[in-house]
Amino acid sequence: MTVASDTQPAESRYAVYPSLRGKVAFVTGGSTGLGAEFVASLAAQGVRVGFADIDDEGAGRLLDKLAGTGCPEPLYVRADVCDVDQLRAAVAAVEDGLGPVSVLVNNAANDVRQDIETVDVPEWDHGIAVNLRHHFFATRAVMAGMRSLGGGSVINLGSISAHVDFVGLPMYIASKAAIEGLTRTMARELGQDRIRVNCVVPGWVFTERQLTHWVTPEVREKLAQVQSLPDNVMPADVARLVLWLAADDSAMCTGQKWIVDGGWM
Ligand SMILES: NC(=O)c1ccc[n+]([C@@H]2O[C@H](COP(=O)([O-])OP(=O)(O)OC[C@H]3O[C@@H](n4cnc5c(N)ncnc54)[C@H](O)[C@@H]3O)[C@@H](O)[C@H]2O)c1
Repeated sequence: MTVASDTQPAESRYAVYPSLRGKVAFVTGGSTGLGAEFVASLAAQGVRVGFADIDDEGAGRLLDKLAGTGCPEPLYVRADVCDVDQLRAAVAAVEDGLGPVSVLVNNAANDVRQDIETVDVPEWDHGIAVNLRHHFFATRAVMAGMRSLGGGSVINLGSISAHVDFVGLPMYIASKAAIEGLTRTMARELGQDRIRVNCVVPGWVFTERQLTHWVTPEVREKLAQVQSLPDNVMPADVARLVLWLAADDSAMCTGQKWIVDGGWM
């Protein structure tokens, strides 16, 4: 078994979590962006990671990047999270290949902007399916396995956009607000089985997609005003919080939202 100390640079300033070594994680939307960072960070801790996405090329690039690093090789399963049967099949494939899932990261989303004047019913339904519905069904798909292990950690991705003045994303923001409520009720429902459910709320994270699609000079100027800290939030900043929530170090934390936004006020 590969251990974290083999896969992290000796000079790493950041935590190694012995409780994660050898566990199985499932990450949705793991091919690119934050999801890819979660896959890589979990694998670097010795976690056997399965991830689902519709971006095969992104998945290939991630697998190439991790090959030869000494991490357990992640298992990619193509699945559209909007198709609940495909999502269930992806969880089943990961459980068959790697074993019961003890860490679930519900990460897939789509932040394409919409005009409130033109959104129609199919678009609305799709927006909710890609940003919210799969959080519930992926959690339900891993529940039995987590129970068999005596517990688990579900990490949902919210967004600061549900808390600040943001427009042009009605289904995305409605979903992100709902994810916080879903987190609380699922934490309550599953707590007796020692399945923890938490919500990570990132600020504006400088992923490649954000930099190429949405981060304009005006956005940089706004962030300089609203963030308390002067630095940009990077994917690794969010991944370190996800690792802590996945590990036994956060054993008595559930039903909460955890904000990593540089102190947005
Ligand atoms: N980047 C940010 O600034 C930011 C801020 C707040 C919250 N978040 C949240 O963090 C999470 C990741 O964000 P990101 O910026 O990395 O997103 P992203 O759009 O860069 O990546 C999302 C990933 O999900 C995949 N995906 C999209 N639709 C899918 C589908 N139908 N089925 C399977 N996979 C699908 C994409 O292919 C991609 O790999 C999201 O939940 C997002 O809402 C991000």
